[in-house]
Parts: sequence; C-alpha cells; structure tokens
Amino acid sequence: MPELFEAARLGALEVKNRFVRSATWEGIAEADGRCTPPLAGMMGELAANEVGLVITSHAYVSTEGQAGPWQLGIYNDEMIEGLSVMAKRVHDAGGKTVVQLAHAGCQARSILTGETPIGPSPAQNADDETCREMTHDDIDRVVEAFGQAARRAKEAGFDGVQIHTAHGFLLSQFLSPAFNQRKDEYGGGPSNRARIVCETIDAVREYAGPDFPVLIKINAADFLNSHGLTEEDSLEICRILGEKGLDGVELSGGTRQSGKFIPSRTTQAASPEAEPYYRDTARKFKQMLDLPLILVGGIRSFEVAQLLVEEGTADFIALARPLVREPNLVKRWKEGDTTPSQCLSDNLCFKPIFGGKGLSCHWITKAASRHA
Ligand SMILES: Cc1cc2nc3c(=O)[nH]c(=O)nc-3n(C[C@H](O)[C@H](O)[C@H](O)COP(=O)(O)O)c2cc1C
Repeated sequence: MPELFEAARLGALEVKNRFVRSATWEGIAEADGRCTPPLAGMMGELAANEVGLVITSHAYVSTEGQAGPWQLGIYNDEMIEGLSVMAKRVHDAGGKTVVQLAHAGCQARSILTGETPIGPSPAQNADDETCREMTHDDIDRVVEAFGQAARRAKEAGFDGVQIHTAHGFLLSQFLSPAFNQRKDEYGGGPSNRARIVCETIDAVREYAGPDFPVLIKINAADFLNSHGLTEEDSLEICRILGEKGLDGVELSGGTRQSGKFIPSRTTQAASPEAEPYYRDTARKFKQMLDLPLILVGGIRSFEVAQLLVEEGTADFIALARPLVREPNLVKRWKEGDTTPSQCLSDNLCFKPIFGGKGLSCHWITKAASRHA
C-alpha cells in the first residue's frame, strides 16, 4: 500500500514523497515579475519543511497575460537569473520544483499590462472590459511564448513545468464552452477546444526538449451552470492530452465566476470525508486513465490524504492555503503530530497581497501582533 512519505514518479520526475505545494500567488515578485530573494526563500522554506514538489505561483509567459501585481514573470531571459536562485533554494533543501506557466487571457489586468485582454471569444472580464478575440497569429504567438518560457524554466534549473489550464485563465477559457464560442478549429468539440493546449505541449517539448517533465493543472469542471466545462469533457480532454505524453495532471476546478465553487472555496467540510472537492472526478480519472494524478482542493487532514493515496484515488496530495497557515505542516505530520491543518479556508490570505504586503495568513499575523 503506498505511503504518503514514499517516493513516487510524475513520469520522468521523481518526487521524494506525495506532498505537493499547489501554485499560490505570493505577490512578492518585483513589479516587472523578476523573482526576489524573499520569494526564492519562501519556496526553499517549503522544501526544507518536507514538501516533496514545490509548484511556483502562476508565472506569466507574456506581458499581456499578467493577472495581478507583483506576480512572478517568465516572459523574457532577464527573468532567468532570479528564477535560478529559486530553483537552487529548493534543490539545496532536498525538494523538486516546477514553474507554473500561465497566461490570464480575459482575466489579465489592462491596468498592469497596458493592453486589451485577449481570449478565445469576446467576453466581459471582472474589470468590465471586453476582451479581444484572438486571431490565429495571436494563438501562434502565445503558444510560442509558452514554449520559450519552458526553455527559460529549464535554463534556470527547474525540474519541469506545469501548464495552467485551470480556473478560467487563457487555456482554461479555450477548454470551456462558456468562454469559447469559436467557429474555427479551436472551438466546438473537446478535441478542438483542446487544440491550443496540444500545441502548447508540443512547443514546450520543442523548446525545452522531449524529456523535460510537463504537467497540467485542469478543472474537473467549471461549475458554471450548464454551459461550462463538464466533468465528462474534462476527462475526455485529459485523455487527449495524456496521448501527448504528459507526465502528470493536477485536478482542480472552478473559475472566478463559479459562485461558491470557486477554486479556493470558503466553505468548511462537515466531516473529514467531505474535505476533497474533486474526489469523485479523481476516482473516475484513475479508472479511465493511466496517468499520475495530483489532487488539490480542500484537503486538511492527514488521514484523508493518507486514504486518498492508499485507495489509489490520487498519487499526490496538493495543498495551497494550509501551507500559508503552516509552512511546516508536512514536516509536522511526518514527525507524528497528525492533527489537521489549522487553515480556516477563509481566503483572508489574499488580502495582504492586494495591499502590497505579500501572501500571509491573517491568523498568524494577528497572533504575532498580539505577542509583540
Ligand atoms: C492566495 C492564493 C493564490 C493562488 N494562486 C494560484 C496560482 O497562482 N495558480 C493556481 O493554479 N492556483 C492558485 N490558487 C489556487 C490553489 O492552488 C488551490 O487550487 C486552491 O486554493 C484549493 O486548494 P486548497 O484548499 O489547498 O487551498 C491560489 C489560491 C490562493 C488562496
């Protein structure tokens, strides 16, 4: 029976245990996206605390795809130096690390980019702007940008990349009928909607080499009433992408517009069994597909994580907010204190980022100021 602290592979990538830090925007990069020493240090700290695989926050592959302030960038070669410090910090602490490559599409902020957001089809974004429908030249340019970004990740010493195709960002918008109403070969059925992701995987392989590990993060479903990406489509798209030789899939879900089913839900599980948001889809995935699976979303208890891996529902357990609350959570569990994460899932960790102070847990900051 597989154990949480047993090594496993994501295709070509060997990870020392089953714990993954899911991509979490920290808001402490330079204004132009370069990695700062505190950001590199934060990733090193996670690895030193026994997180086997550290996935960086979403790094924008081209300037027009920036989603938020002080977001990590990987859009030109000047980014490589800072990123290489980050990769080294993780490796020195005994971990592995991949860069999450992203383009925000319609969710890009024109106030930061100076450009009109682009997407598969015209749509209103949260800033009430209408994004521009991408031409074939735009698609080629963005695919190339993902490929070049993967090359930079490799040159910086990372162990692979994760292509962000979840949460309503650009590639997720292409996968979703709610955002993609195209009439050309990039719209329509699941294989057409997945075409840009297939081309992106090809570009990553072309620029970073055929053996460089490639993961994706994808929505189990969009949870957008009847018109978003469904579970059935998601599994079919995973099958199509799996044939491209992916090294693994991280299953997430939701978009900003998905009401209470946003990717970082604020609801509390009624019981440990109810913690994982996408357990049912994960089970179907593992029955249908021969691909390593990372499961994220809501997991807070050691016993739940252990059961998910033991019963083969997931190969890896990813955590985002619990590692903001307790960067040492995995080490604590390993050392025998297996009480659940103290994370309240209240999303108050977003607040300091928008204020320019960077990702932190409200409850830790509050306790620290009480003791000061
Ligand atoms: C502050 C914050 C930043 C996030 N940034 C990213 C990101 O950069 N890329 C991404 O794919 N998901 C991002 N997420 C979503 C998480 O990776 C994760 O999918 C979600 O929070 C559910 O997992 P959890 O219950 O363990 O937090 C972010 C979540 C939070 C709370």
